[in-house]
Amino acid sequence: MDLILRPRRLRRAEAIRQMVRENKVSPEDFIYPLFIHEKDYKEEISAMPGIFRWNIDGLIEEVLRAWELGIRCIVLFPKIDDDLKTEDGAECFNEAGLIPKTIIKLKQEIPEMAIMTDVALDPYSCDGHDGLVDENGIILNDETIDLLKKQALTQARAGADFIGPSDMMDGRVSAIRNSLDHEGFTDIGIISYTAKYASAYYGPFRTALDSAPRKNNKKLIPDNKSTYQMDPANSKEAVIEAALDQYEGADVLMVKPGLAYLDIINKLSSFSNKPIAAYNVSGEYSMIKAASMQGWIDEKDVVLETLLSFKRAGAKLILTYHACEAARWLKEK
Ligand code: PBG
Repeated sequence: MDLILRPRRLRRAEAIRQMVRENKVSPEDFIYPLFIHEKDYKEEISAMPGIFRWNIDGLIEEVLRAWELGIRCIVLFPKIDDDLKTEDGAECFNEAGLIPKTIIKLKQEIPEMAIMTDVALDPYSCDGHDGLVDENGIILNDETIDLLKKQALTQARAGADFIGPSDMMDGRVSAIRNSLDHEGFTDIGIISYTAKYASAYYGPFRTALDSAPRKNNKKLIPDNKSTYQMDPANSKEAVIEAALDQYEGADVLMVKPGLAYLDIINKLSSFSNKPIAAYNVSGEYSMIKAASMQGWIDEKDVVLETLLSFKRAGAKLILTYHACEAARWLKEK
């Protein structure tokens, strides 16, 4: 055939493919989410094989392992005991609470590891919502923000490097930025859950923390988060959220979930010059685990391809439960 253009020339050998490869995943791209609880043992999460609720000693070992593998940032999620959960989630700003205690300990043991936190009421609220719920089942925006500011400050005082507002209340990024600056924490960054969708992919996470919306005899509790998390049908709205977060002082813009929202990652990466993060959420992790445990897919290849897809879409950072395994596989390569 008389062909001038033969794209296959650049696919001919691995050396050539490497030369023209546009994207690469590395362990420094990962932010490793870790669940913690008040117990003295580690406990596997049934819907997330290979992922645990850690006790403090186990956590320190796991974070050291992650560091050795090249991971440079973790994010902590607490499973709070039921008797500490209240309607206002006040435990979230208890200076002696699980999160501040754990940050202090980690910073003593492994100060170089960057620590990101999550800001939202759900793990601490007996209603299981990210914000305050009134008698009529309305999630109260501005009243919630007062609590989130306290939560963020408590985390900052304990030594967090990045605050991660995941609550989707309007105006929370600027409120948190102002509170941090006011106390002198001008160097602590905000990795904002910018485009966080009301997604069914968070199911396993909510079992891990026992943080799903729950019934309350005294008032109506919405059984979903659709009045604050975004509608999965919308994409332009993500640009509005990104513009706001950027203007309000976010340092990194996150899209969550990741895999079903690659178009949004791509859109925000064209829109903004801030680093974009993708959250490869619990349900995405569990689907790959389940299929690979059945022997239906090759876990390593599927995980690495999935992580690469976030980079190709335009993300720099990836929050992923696969972080340690993936880092190990990348080392072997
Ligand atoms: C809390 C929060 C959630 C996740 C991260 N922070 C759950 C939710 O919004 O209901 C989900 C993470 C995952 O599924 O891996 N606001």
